[in-house]
This record gives sequence, C-alpha cells and structure tokens, in this order.
Amino acid sequence: MDAFTYRDGELFAEGVALSDIAARFGTPTYVYSRAAIEAGYKAYADALAGHAGMVCYAVKANSNLGVLNLLARLGAGFDIVSSGELERVLAAGGDASRIVFSGVGKSRDDMRRALEAGVHCFNVESRNELERLQNVAAAMETKAPVSLRVNPDVDAGTHPYIATGLKENKFGISIDEAEAVYVQAASLPNLEVIGVDCHIGSQLTSLEPFLDALDRLLALIDRLNERGIKIRHLDLGGGLGVRYRDEQPPLPGEYIQAVRRRIDGRNLELLFEPGRSIVANAGVLLTQVEYLKHTEQKDFAVIDAAMNDLIRPALYEAWMDVVPVQPHSGAERTYDLVGPICETGDFLARERNLVLAEGDLLAIRSAGAYGFVMSSNYNTRGRAAEVLVDGEQAFEVRRRETIEDLYAGESLLPQ
Ligand code: LLP
Repeated sequence: MDAFTYRDGELFAEGVALSDIAARFGTPTYVYSRAAIEAGYKAYADALAGHAGMVCYAVKANSNLGVLNLLARLGAGFDIVSSGELERVLAAGGDASRIVFSGVGKSRDDMRRALEAGVHCFNVESRNELERLQNVAAAMETKAPVSLRVNPDVDAGTHPYIATGLKENKFGISIDEAEAVYVQAASLPNLEVIGVDCHIGSQLTSLEPFLDALDRLLALIDRLNERGIKIRHLDLGGGLGVRYRDEQPPLPGEYIQAVRRRIDGRNLELLFEPGRSIVANAGVLLTQVEYLKHTEQKDFAVIDAAMNDLIRPALYEAWMDVVPVQPHSGAERTYDLVGPICETGDFLARERNLVLAEGDLLAIRSAGAYGFVMSSNYNTRGRAAEVLVDGEQAFEVRRRETIEDLYAGESLLPQ
C-alpha cells in the first residue's frame, strides 16, 4: 500500500495533508503512516501464519515508541541490539519473551538486563561472547537461551557498508567453525542452545542469497542433529529490500513462502528480523525550501533538512525520491537538494528535475527506516519532530528538540 498520495493537487499522509502537518509541527518533520506500518508487519505475519515462529521487527530501523507500540499491539516480536533498544521495547509495551538480542558487542550489563527481562534468545556472534554469556548467566544462577549467528559466506549483492554475510565482515561465526562452537555452547552449563541465526545484509533485492544462506544453515542443522544438538528455531535475520527508485524486491509473502517450501517436513520454528521492509515506505521526511541558489555550474535548493536529519544519501550515496507537497507550474530546473550543514557531503538528493519556489514543501520518500534513528546533532541542530498519522489525525510522537535540550548535559569548568 502507499499511504502517501495526492488529493486535490496536494500530497497527503493517509487523510492528513502534509501542508497541515508542516503548519502544525514545523519542518523538518518525519511523518509516518500507521496503516502502512501495520500493513508492512502483516505482510510478514500473514505469510507466516500456520507455521510456528515469530516476526521480530528490527528496532534499529525505527525505534520511536509510538511505532514500536503499534507493532507490539499486533503481537510482533522484536530484534534488539542494545539495552537501550530493550528498554524502548518494554516502554512501548513489547513482550520480552518475544525479543531476540543481536549484535557483536554485547556488554555484561546488556546481558544481565536481558536475562532479567527474560528475552527469548541471544544471537551470539563469537566464542568470547559465548563464554561471557555463560559467566553472566552462571552468576545470576540462570540459563541463557542462545543461538549462534552463523556467517554463511554468501554475497548479498548489496552496498558494501550494509553487506554482513561475507567472511571478511565482522559479523557472526564462520560457517566452517560453527559446528565446533555449537559443541562448546552445548557443553556450557548455563547456556541452552535453541537456534541457528544469520543475517547476511540489508536492502537485498533477490531471493537467491537468502535461499543460498538457508541451504547452508539447513546442512549445518543436520550436522548438529547428528551430534545430538537439537535446533528448535531458524532465524533468517532481516534484509529484504524495498523500492526506493526502480528496484523490484520480492514481496515478504514470496520470500516466506519460498522459505517455508524449503524447510517443509522439518520441525523448525521460523524467525525473521525485518526492519526496512516494514517501515521504510511508511514514512517521509517533510522539509521546506529555504533558498534557491543558482550558480554558473549548478542550481541548488537549500532545504531545512540536512545530513544530520537523514544521513543515507551522504553515507551510502543512497537515492531517495523527492516529491513536491503542493506541485505548481513554473520552469523546471535540475537541482541539487542540499542542507544548511557546512559540509560538501550535505546533500539529500542530486540532479533532480523539479519546479521549485522558496517556501515550497518537499517530501523525501521512503524515509521511515534508518532515517530519524541515524540522525545527529551535528552543527548543533536539534533533531526533527516525528509525527504518526492515523486516518484523519496526526499525533506528535516525538517533539522537536530544543536548543536547550542539546546542551542540557554539558557543564562549564568551575573557574
Ligand atoms: N537483523 C540484524 C542482525 C541486522 O543487523 C539488521 C540490520 C536487521 C536485522 C534488519 O535489516 P533490514 O530488514 O532493515 O534490512 N543503515 C543502513 C542499514 C543497516 C542495516 C543494519 N542491520 C541503511 O540505511 O541502509
């Protein structure tokens, strides 16, 4: 579904005009659609229906409490990578027993807090982490449920910064070593081996790498079974891509059906950790044109959103669609859309043909994932407001940061 459509010549989020949101909450502002987030989750949950397992939304993609709460109400599980994300999920009404804890750098405190809360599983990424978890669990006189994140050495065919399943990446335990590490895990008294996990990368646009990884993990599960190590669940991570421009990624339903066919006849629960494919196209970043600057070489539109608000274009050269909120007539020019930050890399889009006037509102599309969550305060810019639209109503789910917020934790030397 597309929750952002034109009506009477204006762009709406569900039943609310984006121009009304700009007037009420200012710009830049992230705007999310409840219906689109729910549809994104249900695409997974419906495809998994009838098979044991969980859809654990990857909190890192968009961790606003309002967003997490919508998913918690639908019964989602969550994939977290820090105790910060754990507290967010709990504060949003999520169920700890439906949480999986990923990440290469879990601290002892992270482990303690997650054991106290009672998470479903730790996705362990190294031998050292396994030993640390054993020690923490032993000190707490409890057992930690674990799966090993296996690095299956498949090429996800995505941007190198977001590919994670190759041997040279820092993630996971190499598939060649995995069996030996499982034997070790099974021998540790305060660990309970329950699953196998992998995550090979993000923004994947074909099923092949997923199914390749799946086949390698199934072979591993068979070898473990022969050694008497029983695996209850298979967690395939996240990574399914979305359309930013003209990509044609498979739908979650197609992906899950293909996985279900491959594991048919095995008694394996299925876990998925989708982030982007649930929220990316459920959000836009609403921004206003401050200045039009025409130079000999280029036409620039200086907008009030910057790389601190949305870093994907600067960091990955990501292409994000930019559309006018209230299209009007005039001369089309080819603009670079740049922010107010003092860096040449501060662009949100380059070489876009647009008809613009100062004061125009623009929507940067597909900004619901890895948008606000990656924002910073660079150049002492307060982070944007976040608004969640539900039908005809818009709710501010995070207020814009004030300048005072930005230095509230700082202090001067005594003299
Ligand atoms: N599970 C694990 C262990 C992950 O590391 C990730 C993402 C996910 C699940 C969710 O993947 P997704 O379904 O969203 O592809 N900032 C980058 C994306 C980084 C992804 C990191 N890991 C971007 O803006 O493209």
